[in-house]
Amino acid sequence: MAPVIIAPSLLSADFGRLQAEIEDLEAIGADWLHCDIMDGVFVPNISFGIPVLAAIRRYSHIPLDVHLMIQQPESYIEDFIEAGADILTFHWEATVHVDRLVQKIHIFGKKAGIALNPATPVEVLRDILPFIDLICLMSVNPGFGGQRFLPYITQKLLRLVELRMQTGSHALIEVDGGISPETARQIPAADVLVAGSSLVQAPDRRAAIQALREAHRPHRLA
Ligand code: DX5
Ligand code: ZN
Repeated sequence: MAPVIIAPSLLSADFGRLQAEIEDLEAIGADWLHCDIMDGVFVPNISFGIPVLAAIRRYSHIPLDVHLMIQQPESYIEDFIEAGADILTFHWEATVHVDRLVQKIHIFGKKAGIALNPATPVEVLRDILPFIDLICLMSVNPGFGGQRFLPYITQKLLRLVELRMQTGSHALIEVDGGISPETARQIPAADVLVAGSSLVQAPDRRAAIQALREAHRPHRLA
C-alpha cells in the first residue's frame, strides 16, 4: 500500500501571505495543495477563484488538487486548467454530463476527480469509476472549514473500496472534511487526506502532519 498523500487545504491558510503559507506547507512535507473553489451557489460560501489559483501555481512546486464546489463546472474547466490545476475534482451533484466532463479534463492531459456530498451514495459512481483518477468523499457538508467529521463516512468508504475492486478501478480515494489524527485513524483505507483546520491552523504544522501520518497508517512508519 502506497504511503498516504496529505493535501493541506489552503482555505485555512492566511490569504494575506499566501506565498509564505505555500512555502511553509511544502517545507513540512505536504504532498499536494488542496484548493477549495466555492461559488456561493453550489455551496453557501465564496472562497477564491481563477486569478488566485494562478497565483498559487506561481509559488508552488507540488500538485494542485483543485476541488470545484461550483455549479456547472463545465463552464470554467478550461480556465482552471489554464490557471495551473493538476487534478480537477468536480461534484457529481453539480453537473448533468459527468462523463463528458471527465473526457474533457482528460483531453487536456489532467487528472479527473469526482466529489460526492455526504448523502450521495457511492453506487452512483459504478459505471464511471474505471475512467476517473480520484474520488473525493466529503466527510462534512461542503462550504466551510472547521466542521465535524460525519461518522457514517467510515462505512461509506468501505463500500467505495469494495466498488473500486469490483469495477477494476485504480482511482485514489480522498476524504475531505474534519480530518484530524483522531478521525484519520477511522479511515485507514483512504489514499489521500485533506486537512484544513487541524493542520494548517496548528501551532506546530510539522508535528501536526507527522501526527496525521502516524495516526492514519501506524504500521507503515515503524
Ligand atoms: C469544505 C472543503 C474542505 C475544507 C476542509 O467545504 O472542501 O476542503 O477546507 O477543512 P477542514 O479540514 O477544516 O474540515
Ligand atoms: Zn475540499
